Amino acid sequence: MFDDYLTWKPFFDIVPMQDGDCPPASELHGQRFSRQWSAEEVASLLHQNGVFGFSALQSNAFFSRPLGGFVLSREAAGEAEILTIAVSEKVARSGLGWRLMQAALREAQDRGAESMFLEVDEVNQPAVGLYRRLGFEQVARRPAYYAAADGTRTAALVMRRDLR
Ligand SMILES: CC(C)(COP(=O)(O)OP(=O)(O)OC[C@H]1O[C@@H](n2cnc3c(N)ncnc32)[C@H](O)[C@@H]1OP(=O)(O)O)[C@@H](O)C(=O)NCCC(=O)NCCS
Repeated sequence: MFDDYLTWKPFFDIVPMQDGDCPPASELHGQRFSRQWSAEEVASLLHQNGVFGFSALQSNAFFSRPLGGFVLSREAAGEAEILTIAVSEKVARSGLGWRLMQAALREAQDRGAESMFLEVDEVNQPAVGLYRRLGFEQVARRPAYYAAADGTRTAALVMRRDLR
Protein backbone atom coordinates (compact mmCIF):
# COMPACT_ATOMS: atom_id res chain seq x y z
CA MET A 1 0.00 0.00 0.00
CA PHE A 2 2.72 2.48 0.92
CA ASP A 3 4.60 1.46 -2.22
CA ASP A 4 1.52 2.47 -4.24
CA TYR A 5 1.54 5.83 -2.51
CA LEU A 6 5.21 6.38 -3.32
CA THR A 7 4.72 5.60 -7.02
CA TRP A 8 1.48 7.61 -7.28
CA LYS A 9 1.64 10.14 -10.04
CA PRO A 10 -0.91 12.59 -11.36
CA PHE A 11 -2.86 11.85 -14.55
CA PHE A 12 -4.56 14.58 -16.52
CA ASP A 13 -7.53 14.90 -18.86
CA ILE A 14 -7.43 17.61 -21.52
CA VAL A 15 -10.91 19.15 -21.63
CA PRO A 16 -12.50 22.35 -23.03
CA MET A 17 -11.90 25.20 -20.61
CA GLN A 18 -14.89 26.21 -18.45
CA ASP A 19 -15.63 29.32 -16.40
CA GLY A 20 -14.72 27.44 -13.22
CA ASP A 21 -11.16 26.93 -14.53
CA CYS A 22 -10.53 30.69 -14.78
CA PRO A 23 -9.55 31.34 -11.12
CA PRO A 24 -6.94 28.52 -11.02
CA ALA A 25 -5.80 29.50 -14.52
CA SER A 26 -5.23 33.05 -13.28
CA GLU A 27 -3.23 31.73 -10.32
CA LEU A 28 -1.11 29.53 -12.59
CA HIS A 29 -0.61 32.43 -15.01
CA GLY A 30 0.72 34.49 -12.10
CA GLN A 31 3.18 31.72 -11.20
CA ARG A 32 4.51 31.40 -14.76
CA PHE A 33 4.44 35.00 -16.10
CA SER A 34 5.64 38.32 -14.70
CA ARG A 35 2.21 39.95 -15.11
CA GLN A 36 -0.63 37.85 -13.78
CA TRP A 37 -3.93 37.90 -15.66
CA SER A 38 -6.84 38.17 -13.23
CA ALA A 39 -9.56 35.52 -13.25
CA GLU A 40 -11.87 38.16 -14.78
CA GLU A 41 -9.39 38.86 -17.59
CA VAL A 42 -9.06 35.14 -18.34
CA ALA A 43 -12.86 34.70 -18.32
CA SER A 44 -13.42 37.75 -20.49
CA LEU A 45 -10.89 36.45 -23.06
CA LEU A 46 -12.47 33.00 -23.01
CA HIS A 47 -15.87 34.55 -23.83
CA GLN A 48 -14.59 36.62 -26.77
CA ASN A 49 -15.65 35.67 -30.28
CA GLY A 50 -13.44 32.97 -31.79
CA VAL A 51 -11.59 32.26 -28.53
CA PHE A 52 -11.35 28.75 -27.11
CA GLY A 53 -9.31 27.10 -24.41
CA PHE A 54 -8.34 23.75 -22.98
CA SER A 55 -7.56 22.79 -19.41
CA ALA A 56 -5.47 19.92 -18.10
CA LEU A 57 -7.44 18.66 -15.08
CA GLN A 58 -6.04 16.00 -12.78
CA SER A 59 -8.17 12.88 -13.02
CA ASN A 60 -6.79 10.96 -10.04
CA ALA A 61 -6.85 13.60 -7.31
CA PHE A 62 -8.69 12.78 -4.09
CA PHE A 63 -11.05 15.71 -3.47
CA SER A 64 -10.94 18.03 -6.49
CA ARG A 65 -9.59 18.23 -10.02
CA PRO A 66 -6.52 20.50 -9.80
CA LEU A 67 -5.50 22.43 -12.91
CA GLY A 68 -2.10 21.33 -14.24
CA GLY A 69 -2.12 23.67 -17.24
CA PHE A 70 -4.21 25.54 -19.75
CA VAL A 71 -4.04 27.06 -23.21
CA LEU A 72 -6.06 29.89 -24.76
CA SER A 73 -6.28 30.35 -28.51
CA ARG A 74 -8.23 32.39 -31.03
CA GLU A 75 -9.40 31.58 -34.55
CA ALA A 76 -10.55 34.27 -36.98
CA ALA A 77 -10.81 34.32 -40.77
CA GLY A 78 -8.76 31.17 -41.29
CA GLU A 79 -5.92 32.15 -38.97
CA ALA A 80 -5.41 30.97 -35.41
CA GLU A 81 -3.10 32.24 -32.69
CA ILE A 82 -1.98 31.05 -29.29
CA LEU A 83 -2.89 33.71 -26.72
CA THR A 84 -1.20 31.99 -23.81
CA ILE A 85 -0.17 28.58 -22.50
CA ALA A 86 1.05 27.65 -19.04
CA VAL A 87 1.85 24.38 -17.28
CA SER A 88 2.48 24.10 -13.54
CA GLU A 89 6.15 23.76 -12.62
CA LYS A 90 5.15 20.77 -10.45
CA VAL A 91 4.34 18.75 -13.57
CA ALA A 92 6.74 20.37 -16.04
CA ARG A 93 8.20 18.22 -18.81
CA SER A 94 5.59 15.49 -18.42
CA GLY A 95 3.90 16.14 -21.76
CA LEU A 96 1.06 18.47 -20.70
CA GLY A 97 2.24 21.39 -22.84
CA TRP A 98 2.40 19.06 -25.83
CA ARG A 99 -1.10 17.68 -25.19
CA LEU A 100 -2.62 21.14 -24.66
CA MET A 101 -1.04 22.41 -27.88
CA GLN A 102 -2.27 19.36 -29.80
CA ALA A 103 -5.83 20.04 -28.57
CA ALA A 104 -5.57 23.71 -29.62
CA LEU A 105 -4.15 22.83 -33.04
CA ARG A 106 -6.93 20.29 -33.67
CA GLU A 107 -9.67 22.68 -32.58
CA ALA A 108 -8.23 25.49 -34.74
CA GLN A 109 -8.17 23.11 -37.70
CA ASP A 110 -11.78 22.03 -37.03
CA ARG A 111 -12.79 25.70 -37.00
CA GLY A 112 -11.26 26.14 -40.46
CA ALA A 113 -7.89 27.70 -39.63
CA GLU A 114 -5.20 27.18 -42.24
CA SER A 115 -2.33 28.30 -40.04
CA MET A 116 -1.50 28.90 -36.40
CA PHE A 117 0.71 31.79 -35.22
CA LEU A 118 2.31 32.57 -31.87
CA GLU A 119 4.81 34.92 -30.31
CA VAL A 120 7.51 33.76 -27.93
CA ASP A 121 10.51 35.24 -26.13
CA GLU A 122 13.53 33.82 -27.95
CA VAL A 123 15.28 33.03 -24.64
CA ASN A 124 12.30 30.94 -23.43
CA GLN A 125 13.91 27.58 -24.20
CA PRO A 126 11.09 25.31 -22.96
CA ALA A 127 8.49 27.13 -25.06
CA VAL A 128 10.66 27.51 -28.17
CA GLY A 129 11.61 23.81 -27.83
CA LEU A 130 7.95 22.80 -27.56
CA TYR A 131 6.87 24.90 -30.55
CA ARG A 132 9.75 23.72 -32.77
CA ARG A 133 8.95 20.13 -31.89
CA LEU A 134 5.33 20.76 -32.92
CA GLY A 135 6.48 21.97 -36.34
CA PHE A 136 6.32 25.75 -35.81
CA GLU A 137 8.85 27.78 -37.78
CA GLN A 138 10.13 31.29 -37.23
CA VAL A 139 8.62 33.82 -39.65
CA ALA A 140 9.74 37.06 -37.98
CA ARG A 141 11.91 38.40 -35.16
CA ARG A 142 11.10 41.55 -33.19
CA PRO A 143 14.29 42.76 -31.47
CA ALA A 144 14.08 44.15 -27.91
CA TYR A 145 10.38 43.31 -27.74
CA TYR A 146 10.17 42.02 -24.15
CA ALA A 147 11.53 43.90 -21.13
CA ALA A 148 12.53 42.04 -17.95
CA ALA A 149 12.25 43.62 -14.49
CA ASP A 150 16.03 44.32 -14.52
CA GLY A 151 15.70 46.23 -17.79
CA THR A 152 17.13 43.47 -20.01
CA ARG A 153 15.41 43.38 -23.38
CA THR A 154 14.94 40.24 -25.43
CA ALA A 155 13.56 39.53 -28.87
CA ALA A 156 10.19 38.04 -29.73
CA LEU A 157 10.02 35.30 -32.33
CA VAL A 158 6.86 35.09 -34.41
CA MET A 159 6.31 31.45 -35.29
CA ARG A 160 3.86 29.82 -37.66
CA ARG A 161 2.63 26.32 -38.39
CA ASP A 162 0.61 25.19 -41.37
CA LEU A 163 -2.62 23.41 -40.47
CA ARG A 164 -3.64 22.25 -43.95
C1 LIG B 1 6.40 26.05 -22.28
C2 LIG B 1 5.60 25.09 -21.38
C3 LIG B 1 4.11 25.31 -21.63
C4 LIG B 1 6.01 23.64 -21.73
O1 LIG B 1 5.15 22.77 -21.00
P1 LIG B 1 5.61 21.28 -20.55
O2 LIG B 1 4.37 20.57 -20.16
O3 LIG B 1 6.68 21.37 -19.54
O4 LIG B 1 6.20 20.70 -21.91
P2 LIG B 1 6.15 19.18 -22.38
O5 LIG B 1 6.47 18.28 -21.24
O6 LIG B 1 4.86 18.94 -23.10
O7 LIG B 1 7.36 19.13 -23.42
C5 LIG B 1 7.17 18.91 -24.81
C6 LIG B 1 8.45 19.27 -25.54
O8 LIG B 1 8.75 20.66 -25.36
C7 LIG B 1 10.18 20.82 -25.25
N1 LIG B 1 10.54 21.26 -23.88
C8 LIG B 1 9.75 21.28 -22.78
N2 LIG B 1 10.43 21.75 -21.72
C9 LIG B 1 11.68 22.02 -22.15
C10 LIG B 1 12.85 22.53 -21.53
N3 LIG B 1 12.85 22.84 -20.22
N4 LIG B 1 13.94 22.71 -22.28
C11 LIG B 1 13.95 22.42 -23.61
N5 LIG B 1 12.86 21.90 -24.27
C12 LIG B 1 11.76 21.72 -23.55
C13 LIG B 1 10.78 19.46 -25.51
O9 LIG B 1 10.93 19.32 -26.91
C14 LIG B 1 9.67 18.56 -25.01
O10 LIG B 1 9.72 17.26 -25.53
P3 LIG B 1 10.59 16.12 -24.75
O11 LIG B 1 10.27 16.23 -23.28
O12 LIG B 1 10.13 14.84 -25.37
O13 LIG B 1 12.01 16.47 -25.05
C15 LIG B 1 5.96 25.33 -19.86
O14 LIG B 1 7.36 25.28 -19.71
C16 LIG B 1 5.45 26.63 -19.28
O15 LIG B 1 4.31 26.73 -18.83
N6 LIG B 1 6.32 27.67 -19.26
C17 LIG B 1 5.97 28.94 -18.62
C18 LIG B 1 4.96 29.71 -19.42
C19 LIG B 1 5.45 29.96 -20.83
O16 LIG B 1 6.60 30.31 -21.05
N7 LIG B 1 4.52 29.82 -21.80
C20 LIG B 1 4.82 30.05 -23.21
C21 LIG B 1 4.73 31.49 -23.52
S1 LIG B 1 4.99 31.79 -25.25
